[in-house]
Amino acid sequence: MNRDVIIACDFSSREATLEFLDRFPAGRKPFVKIGMELFYAEGPSIVREIKARGHKIFLDLKLHDIPNTVQKAMKSLSGLDVDICNLHAGGGMEMMKAAVKGLTREDGTRPLLIAVTMLTSIDQEMMENELGIHGDLPEVVMKYAKNAKDAGLDGVVCSPLEAAKVHEVCGDGFLTVTPGIRFADDAKGDQQRVTTPAKAKTLGSDFIVVGRSITAAADPVEAYRRCISEFC
Ligand code: C5P
Repeated sequence: MNRDVIIACDFSSREATLEFLDRFPAGRKPFVKIGMELFYAEGPSIVREIKARGHKIFLDLKLHDIPNTVQKAMKSLSGLDVDICNLHAGGGMEMMKAAVKGLTREDGTRPLLIAVTMLTSIDQEMMENELGIHGDLPEVVMKYAKNAKDAGLDGVVCSPLEAAKVHEVCGDGFLTVTPGIRFADDAKGDQQRVTTPAKAKTLGSDFIVVGRSITAAADPVEAYRRCISEFC
């Protein structure tokens, strides 16, 4: 897949989501991320509806459970015809391998599967003191990325600042999907380490995930176009 901008549709209802998507003119349909908030509120039907409107979909449900359960959950998701879905690399390699199996349809096709390495809300101190994982956080991220690659996954969710290193460790074809994007003139909100779309491009991100810089903009369509022109 070519470099693209994915809009995080962090809305709590079908109505709010469709009203937002209706603002985009016919033609280029934005790649859309559906997360837990919307999926848990509306269920699989919202995925089918947005897909039927012609959007590509990244279903961001971040699965994390025992291998058997994740395999079966992924089998359920494989019927939804999404383009990308994800899980936590922290569930281990057997879980990730089971996920690939569950996601693969009878004809051998499957959506892309990517792993969350370490959540960006976790810092070095939390990782060591709360989670009991010792080591340098960026090295743990790379280890998890390598596990994901070895388990047969297609990429990771990571910071744009980690994209080049992930490509170095896992190869250029291994996808880096990067949130934490703001325009130079935006507020950071609750994101700590932010990067502009233009900078994410130079750092080697394959996809940027952009939420509030588009969804909360005075003119979301214009903000989306600005992302596309800076990043693609
Ligand atoms: O509004 P904003 O651009 O900060 O939204 C970023 C999106 O990316 C949200 O949907 C958030 O859940 C998601 N995300 C993130 N950091 C991660 C993984 C996902 O910000 N490590």
